[in-house]
Amino acid sequence: MGSIEEQIPPPDPDVVKVSILGSESIILGFHLTDYMLREIIREIPSPTYVLITDENLAPIYLSRIITRFSTIATESSFGNATSSRLITYTIPPGEQSKSRAIKAQIEDFLFDQACTRDTCILAMGGGVIGDLVGFVAATFMRGVPYVQIPTTLLAMVDSSIGGKTAIDLTYGKNLIGAFWQPKKIYIDLCFLKTLPEREFIAGMAEVIKTAAISSEKDFVNLENGVKAIREASQSMLLSVILASAQFKANIVTNDEREGGLRGLLNFGHTIGHAIEAILTPEMLHGECVSIGIVKEVEIARNLGYLNQVAVGRLMRCLQSYGLPVSLDEKKVTDLVGNKYCSVDGLMEAMKYDKKNQGDKKKMVMLTSIGKTLEQKATAVSDEIIRKVLSPAIKVIPSTPIPNVAMSTLGSKSISNRALILAALGEGTCRLKGLLHSDDTQVMLTALQKLGAAQFEWEDNGDTLVVIGGGGEGIKVPDSEIYLGNAGTASRFVTTVCTLVDHKSVTETKTATILTGNDRMKLRPIAPLVTTLLENGSEIRYLEKEGSLPLEIKPSVGRFQGGSINLTASVSSQYVSSILMCAPHASQTVTLTLTGGQVISQQYIDMTITMMNSFGIQIDRLESNVYRIQRGRYKNPEVYIIESDASSATYPLAIAAITGTTCTITNIGSNSLQGDSAFAVKVLAPMGCKVTQTSISTTVKGPPIGTLQSLPEIDMESMTDAFLTASVLAAVATKNTKADDNITRIVGIANQRVKECNRIAAMVHELSKFGVEAFELPDGLEIHGKPIQSLKTPIEGVKCYDDHRIAMSFSVLGCVAPGGTIIREKKCVEKTWPSWWDALEKELGVKLQGVDLGPSTEQDHNESNGNNKESSILFIGIRGAGKTTLGKAAAKALNRQFIDMDHHFETTFKITLTEYVEKEGWEAFRAKETELLSSLLKNNGFGYIISCGGGIIETENSREILQKYINEKNGIVVHLVRDVDEVENFLEQDKTRPVYGETVRDAWKRREKWYQQCSNYEFVAVTKTAVVNQNGQVIDGISINNINNDNQEDFDAEWAKVTRDFCRFLNFITGRETNHVDLNKIEKTYFISLTFPDIRPALPEIEVLTNGADAIEIRIDLLSSSSIIHVGQQLALLRRYSELPIIFTVRSIGQGGKFSNNAEDEMFKLLQYAIKWGCEYIDLEITSSSQKIEKFLRSKANSKIIASWHDLSGNTKWNGSDIKEKFRIANKYGDIIKIIGTASSISDNFQLMEFIRFYEQQNNQKKPIIAINMGTKGQLSRILNKVFTPVTHPALPTKAAPGQLSIAEIHKGLHLIGLLPKRKFYVFGKPITHSPSPTLHNAGFEAFGIPYHYSLFESENIADVKPIIEDSEFGGASVTIPYKIDVIPFLDETSEHVKIIGAVNTIIAKELDKDTSTSTKKRILYGENTDWLGILGCIKKISVNNINTPPIGSESSALIIGAGGTSRAAIYALHKLGIPKIYLYNRTHKRATELILQFPSSYGLTTIQSLSDSFQTTPPQIIVSTIPADNNLEFPDEIFAFGKHGIVVEMAYKPRRTQLLEKAEREHGWMGVEGIQVLLEQGFWQFELWTGRKAPRNLMTQKVLEKYQS
Ligand SMILES: NC(=O)c1ccc[n+]([C@@H]2O[C@H](COP(=O)([O-])OP(=O)(O)OC[C@H]3O[C@@H](n4cnc5c(N)ncnc54)[C@H](O)[C@@H]3O)[C@@H](O)[C@H]2O)c1
Ligand SMILES: [Zn+2]
Repeated sequence: MGSIEEQIPPPDPDVVKVSILGSESIILGFHLTDYMLREIIREIPSPTYVLITDENLAPIYLSRIITRFSTIATESSFGNATSSRLITYTIPPGEQSKSRAIKAQIEDFLFDQACTRDTCILAMGGGVIGDLVGFVAATFMRGVPYVQIPTTLLAMVDSSIGGKTAIDLTYGKNLIGAFWQPKKIYIDLCFLKTLPEREFIAGMAEVIKTAAISSEKDFVNLENGVKAIREASQSMLLSVILASAQFKANIVTNDEREGGLRGLLNFGHTIGHAIEAILTPEMLHGECVSIGIVKEVEIARNLGYLNQVAVGRLMRCLQSYGLPVSLDEKKVTDLVGNKYCSVDGLMEAMKYDKKNQGDKKKMVMLTSIGKTLEQKATAVSDEIIRKVLSPAIKVIPSTPIPNVAMSTLGSKSISNRALILAALGEGTCRLKGLLHSDDTQVMLTALQKLGAAQFEWEDNGDTLVVIGGGGEGIKVPDSEIYLGNAGTASRFVTTVCTLVDHKSVTETKTATILTGNDRMKLRPIAPLVTTLLENGSEIRYLEKEGSLPLEIKPSVGRFQGGSINLTASVSSQYVSSILMCAPHASQTVTLTLTGGQVISQQYIDMTITMMNSFGIQIDRLESNVYRIQRGRYKNPEVYIIESDASSATYPLAIAAITGTTCTITNIGSNSLQGDSAFAVKVLAPMGCKVTQTSISTTVKGPPIGTLQSLPEIDMESMTDAFLTASVLAAVATKNTKADDNITRIVGIANQRVKECNRIAAMVHELSKFGVEAFELPDGLEIHGKPIQSLKTPIEGVKCYDDHRIAMSFSVLGCVAPGGTIIREKKCVEKTWPSWWDALEKELGVKLQGVDLGPSTEQDHNESNGNNKESSILFIGIRGAGKTTLGKAAAKALNRQFIDMDHHFETTFKITLTEYVEKEGWEAFRAKETELLSSLLKNNGFGYIISCGGGIIETENSREILQKYINEKNGIVVHLVRDVDEVENFLEQDKTRPVYGETVRDAWKRREKWYQQCSNYEFVAVTKTAVVNQNGQVIDGISINNINNDNQEDFDAEWAKVTRDFCRFLNFITGRETNHVDLNKIEKTYFISLTFPDIRPALPEIEVLTNGADAIEIRIDLLSSSSIIHVGQQLALLRRYSELPIIFTVRSIGQGGKFSNNAEDEMFKLLQYAIKWGCEYIDLEITSSSQKIEKFLRSKANSKIIASWHDLSGNTKWNGSDIKEKFRIANKYGDIIKIIGTASSISDNFQLMEFIRFYEQQNNQKKPIIAINMGTKGQLSRILNKVFTPVTHPALPTKAAPGQLSIAEIHKGLHLIGLLPKRKFYVFGKPITHSPSPTLHNAGFEAFGIPYHYSLFESENIADVKPIIEDSEFGGASVTIPYKIDVIPFLDETSEHVKIIGAVNTIIAKELDKDTSTSTKKRILYGENTDWLGILGCIKKISVNNINTPPIGSESSALIIGAGGTSRAAIYALHKLGIPKIYLYNRTHKRATELILQFPSSYGLTTIQSLSDSFQTTPPQIIVSTIPADNNLEFPDEIFAFGKHGIVVEMAYKPRRTQLLEKAEREHGWMGVEGIQVLLEQGFWQFELWTGRKAPRNLMTQKVLEKYQS
């Protein structure tokens, strides 16, 4: 950076002064050093000047300042300067320096240097230095003078002005500080030369912010000056910074202490700060503010304060400077990685905003560019903020406004033409409904620069007033015209430039230059330019021949006209361009179109029609010859831009589907756009009443549910509208016969290659509603389904980033029950950014914000679709279970299943065996490959496809599969099953063609291909026997028994495999990853299994893992680490435990047994861990970084624990080594694991201190496992929070020295005072027989938790008062008869309780002293776990039985009884997604009263008698909530559902009731005993009280023992 020192500044630079708080203390300019030093020495005389800066700036600027100071100080003749000294202090850069610690450091330095009250401090740096040093100055000796020398753009325009100083605490940013005005602020723009680009850009956010709230003129400058600012043209930069600084100075002057006005500067910051709180330090302040601005103006738009035009301008302006405008932009996700800004997180962060008014959040509402609603921030409701922040939106079925008239967005083609015509016309024309987009903006600016017309906005941007120039006075513009990537503009404007008046040429302005961005410079314009050249115009290509930039010289004869030939086979825009300018040519134009087939005639017609509206007639002499007389356009007073026809289809379709009326006021029968025929050609035949005028269209829908299907409709002329038509067809069920309700849409093949494969996407998304749809070669077929029976897609509609999918499914959402979630609401921005506002405000449809959490990495993938949605393929040897598991997968994931073999036979109408016999294997394989490729093309989304066993035999097929994995992010699962078992199984199956080789041989040959062609692997273990200590087989069935004789065993075994398989699928598709929420659970543990073979331990696994949150499997300790063996061990472990797995291969060097010299083998195993879908994988950071990085690229949903163990015992927690280890572990891991060794107790304190510091410094929430090995390190094990490795008394050996059991850790915590005693009770009457004390005390004891549970029987609920007020009270179960009466004693209840209306659990919650505002130390919280008990038992029984039909939107249920428990039952059944619930109670009135207390969406109906018939939907589930000693008869009718219904008995005394017996024995139902529900709800209680998973088996065992006796 030597150049800066060498530059010789002008002796007296030009400076601009800005006044603030009554004095001109802000000085702006270039090269201010000397000026500044002189002035400071003169005006703030001091014996000691202390310049404080950061380590980035010091090397560049310090030495020169020191030199200049000594020169100036000695040369100067004034004051006591000769005795002044300048000392400097440098601190580390970055936000972390705004801390108490650094502040103290600086203060110590000042004392060391004997600084006194007359010291003057100079703060040279960005906002960090300014804020920190300013605060030092404010408090040092009660305040010393200081000077701001801002060096970042942000500091120049914002932080250095206003006197706000502060430091950060762990509690939040800027929490301690003072208002302390600097004496001077020197804004030397030269500093910006060295400012990193990203920092500069971030600073622009503040500049744009200021312009947006203060001055439309400044904003326009910014909009147009992007390039100029970037290249830092001095005057431009100065004027921009000056404007911002002035505005801020002005506001500060009027409101120094932030009374309100100053709050305006917080525009974009309410949300911006919340984002920053979560995404710092990865994102810079300005970047967060940029997104904040966009969100806040979207809120203003939603509230109706601001129109879309302004929102669009702001967004484009921010973007043009390289700022992010949305959280899911690639730029942002690249920076922040896994961090996710949830809506909840943002709302939480906003809670602490200093501006809040009570609990109302405040933000600055813009009403137009340059204007705000109030002179301060405005309160906005949480609901609105949530809605706007949410990435997804839920459309609530609602009746729209019955009769709506609205205009929809202007058509782009028409807007562009209208601009040209009105500008060339004579007189004033008001253009209404102009589309605001980049393209039209560019066109407008170009016409303005050419002086072709004058433009003014009216009606807040809704009307553009064009004062036409009549084609006169078009001049050479002052500078080049930049057209961005606006293609239409470039073509239309080129001809306009030939109309430039040659008299406007001056010495400096000789020609018009048209240019654009890089992409524009590749787009063709040659045919037009050639024609114009032939016509005598002077045009030159400045760069690439045939493309922009162009130089167009005005010629005396202007555009000559006469006979013109033009090639029109490339673009109709060339033709329109010539046509529109033709009336202004010197001679009558005769235009002949050459080059064969004219493209897009409809657009040429559009131009001609529009020219006609502006008073110019065109004669079409022959089909390709037009004559245009000379003439003048006469501007109509008003020209209404026709709506974009595709956009208009959505509101019209809403009228159609909801039976309401909608008029679109800006499109009618005159329209030239193809999609405008939608109303007449689609909606009318579907049963709507359609009335059109030349410019408007009205549609009145038939009554809901009576749309008529269309047997076949060709939509070739309106392809974009097919999506709208599809959602209507989905509910077109007017006809009584289902087959008559089928709609076929054809002629839309091009829609396969739009934003996504729209046909496939529609088919798939419709299937989520239960609508059957199929692809046709050039379209699709949709089977109408009655609205009431549509399913609710739980995961919502995926939009594939396609606006049309989002908008069309929001049409369906207006009627689909349950609410339709549209997952990516943002994608409408492409054409209709305010669609959601229009839907809500203009059409009256209810919307709700939804945040479905972070999208998976695959979601971000650009390729069509992603892991979550794209089809899943199964490969594997014959008999591995591809079909069985494939079907199970289809059921679990709600997808369609395709068996390729079967598909082959139906497609080619021949059996496999016949085909192979006839054509031979080779031909068969080739055919199979062909089929595979076409399946992936047509069924690439939403299917489960099971491939034939030999699919991997051909090179071509292998390539297709690998491409599917690598290029499409597809999933190919290799299903593995033991070969012996398969052989045995296949014995029975003679229907498939024989191999001519044994299964074993085939497997050997193919094994590696299966591996190469799959990215996941599932190992199905069905027979591997599990033996107990005595060698007896206690589980699994032995191979010899797998035959038809014991089908039941076989089914039961496969049910387990299927369950495991579903878990695996949920993981790999990211639906349910089984990860532990490490931020939520205060302490988590994992148990390390150290067995050489885990089989013998499996029966004990529940006991061993009690209290643990995950299981580590140590591969290095297994007797064999072959892939087959490890795969089986893992599969078995999963069979026996649902806990997430930590897959660890520990090398000798890191304390394990795996060879140090086998890195390749180790990574092969780790790679397999990914394939097997392990939740966590341990990765040693000592491995070679290349291998690590390669490995990490494929990690998918597995989380990485990056680990390092200090075996030497020499590493100190306060040394630099550890820091380096943390840095590396942080780089690679999702979880950091660093294990040291303790040689004394104080090593543990050092560890804690280090972690505290590390977390603070990195502002990091990444979980850390940090402990010390050795007995002296046990304290660190007790205190470690995340995944503490624990042992269990029953384990053969400890995995590491010093390991403790969970019970030991809890005892330790108790002894050091971190886990105090608590008392728990059951409240109720009578309760003497309650099993609850046994249940809970067993659990407390097992975990070593010092809690005790006892009975408290009382006559009156008020008796519990002293008990719950006791400080040792921890919680209680509440039972009959107090579940409702107890509520008034509680401080808070859960949402569940609010709906159910009853409490069964009390929790005494300790309040966090730090964040709580109340004076209370704890609150009593009411919860209900009864419903969880019921829900849990039903789910379990259905998961564990392969034969249960799915439970959900097609099921119904019956509840017997109408007391407190049946309330919980209602809620549980509703949560299961059951739409219809019958309620029976002996006293019918009570049942009727009860259902009134639930929302109607619960689908509750009472029945008078149990023998009522349930013909249509007999209950699949029955829950009985009445005592067992009832004498009710249970008629057969209630079991009409047939086999595999589920009956839940809530009474638990006696264990077997009449209902259970009858249901199970006589009707083949599956029963849940009351005791099971009791236990289940008790487990939940236990978990609420302890924060730990209940030791279920143990608790069950203890209860049953007691129960039996
Ligand atoms: N007091 C206020 O009114 C106010 C207003 C806005 C922001 N802030 C505060 O400002 C801080 C952010 O300030 P910032 O954005 O200026 O960040 P910053 O001070 O951290 O500077 C950004 C980075 O650029 C480097 N740098 C600064 N000037 C440079 C130059 N000329 N050449 C090369 N490198 C240079 C710095 O060393 C640093 O690494 C935040 O703490 C924020 O809270 C305060
Ligand atoms: Zn700011």
